[in-house]
Amino acid sequence: MVVETLAVAVWAMLPAYVPNNAAVLVGGGTPIDAGRSYGGRRLLGDGKTWRGTAGGTLAGVLLAGLLNLGRPAIAGATGLDLPGFPPAAAVALAAGAMAGDILASFLKRRTGRERGASFPGLDQLDFVAAALVLAFLVAPAWAASVFTLPVIVAVVVVTPVLHLSTNAGAYLLGLKEEPY
Ligand code: CTP
Ligand code: MG
Repeated sequence: MVVETLAVAVWAMLPAYVPNNAAVLVGGGTPIDAGRSYGGRRLLGDGKTWRGTAGGTLAGVLLAGLLNLGRPAIAGATGLDLPGFPPAAAVALAAGAMAGDILASFLKRRTGRERGASFPGLDQLDFVAAALVLAFLVAPAWAASVFTLPVIVAVVVVTPVLHLSTNAGAYLLGLKEEPY
């Protein structure tokens, strides 16, 4: 059923969606690369900070806990078979999302893109790919049962839409410097 596949895709990825947005809100302070350069360019740039990374990861893990608490009521009300989040899965999704975003900044700097420059495709799917990979590594049985092929396809289709619309919203609210 398409609706359930989409619902499971969004629900299961929520702990990976929130870290980027939380990092925008709490980010700042010392950059992870401490200002260091590599090949004449910043290693990561000022947009990847310790505070943003820690805050983003924490936000994703906390959200997974809240979803666990709300799951019986929401599943009961909607009739959808929504997965819970074991602690290892919650950490993998949240930390994986932050790691993917950091890796993308590394690649952006290596390809000559300054902080804030867009990299279509990478910007929208970096964090999803890393979150999925880490979830399969850290919680393989859980990941295999939740992220079936149809669910992964739904994630890949729906994520760019959600990502672009939340970023556009954050931009309009003055929270983010670029709308992507
Ligand atoms: N942020 C952070 N730490 C992270 C990720 C994000 O502090 N690990 C904060 C930064 O303040 C950053 C903002 O969230 O400027 C927006 O994140 P993002 O769009 O990923 O960074 P950019 O500034 O656009 O830099 P980049 O080009 O490297 O993506
Ligand atoms: Mg950016």
